[in-house]
Amino acid sequence: MKKLLDVRKLHVKFSTLGGSLHAVRGIDFSLNEGETLGIVGESGCGKSATAKALMQLNPRHTSELSGEILYHGHNLLAFSEKKMQSVRGKEIGMIFQDPMTSLNPTIKVGRQIMEGYLRHFPGTPTKQARKIALDTLTKVGIPHPEERFEAYPHTLSGGMRQRAMIAVALACEPKILLADEPTTALDVTIQAQILDLLKEIQKNTRTSILLITHDMSVVAKMCDRVIVMYAGQIVECASVEEIFTSPQHPYTQRLLSAIPRLNQPKDHPLVPIEGTPPNLSNPLKGCGFCARCPFAMNICAAQQPPLFEVSPNHVSACFKHDPRIKT
Ligand SMILES: Nc1ncnc2c1ncn2[C@@H]1O[C@H](COP(=O)(O)OP(=O)(O)OP(=O)(O)O)[C@@H](O)[C@H]1O
Ligand SMILES: [Mg+2]
Repeated sequence: MKKLLDVRKLHVKFSTLGGSLHAVRGIDFSLNEGETLGIVGESGCGKSATAKALMQLNPRHTSELSGEILYHGHNLLAFSEKKMQSVRGKEIGMIFQDPMTSLNPTIKVGRQIMEGYLRHFPGTPTKQARKIALDTLTKVGIPHPEERFEAYPHTLSGGMRQRAMIAVALACEPKILLADEPTTALDVTIQAQILDLLKEIQKNTRTSILLITHDMSVVAKMCDRVIVMYAGQIVECASVEEIFTSPQHPYTQRLLSAIPRLNQPKDHPLVPIEGTPPNLSNPLKGCGFCARCPFAMNICAAQQPPLFEVSPNHVSACFKHDPRIKT
């Protein structure tokens, strides 16, 4: 499968009043053409900071990015702001969790889609851009697109607003769609509709999707591969089947046992993950999960585990996989 995006040693640091906060700590991953790659992990583990780094949308003056984000062989981190503007929306589109913060409340929905399109294809006649906006509204399942074209975002229902935002992200047919918790704010029925819509779009256009969620049922429904993040690092990466049938990292195992399953015996307790993640303002000495891990060994507090290959295309950052360690 062709790699569309190759992320190497990506670091994101924020300057805060309490000092430097190291939110993303040297992660490597790639996104293949036409696949849906999920990123899961607890709140604050660096999922959004990673997605925003790909678009360079973290606050300019208080964040620092390093590493490489290779897209068609070019390092996006070396791009100027002007050059990035030609990537955002056209090559990489983003759907945010809350449409009200990313749709402009003072501009009609149709015009927002048109404006996004015209920014990248400036010479397009208005009539044609309007048609593209209407077609995109239809594509995302918005009924009566002519009417909705003239609507302001606040007059739409939550599900319709989310669809409108997806339309803004899709108008230029980006090759990559970053979807950061795209359905968390919606009720379950609308959530299912939006996820089906994303699947449909992907089937028709072969768009690659990076889907950020903390909902494992969304992962099961949508993803081909999954990255599990913890404290700014990748602790496990595998196909969705392997993550569910053979999770290797103790954190992934705890994450999965903390969710209810239909086939679970009634008396089977859900196990919460006790403790809290480490403070990202401090350097990590050993494994970030060590203090919460029931299997922690002495080495876990002293050294950071590398990613061990546990089977083809399945890696896990835990010393229990180290062949030198006898269990
Ligand atoms: N602009 C910022 N300035 C300072 N710190 C930030 C900023 N954005 C994120 N952080 C911090 O970086 C860390 C990672 O945040 P991030 O938003 O990536 O988490 P997340 O995994 O997306 O969590 P959630 O599931 O809650 O959305 C957190 O400790 C967060 O407080
Ligand atoms: Mg987030």
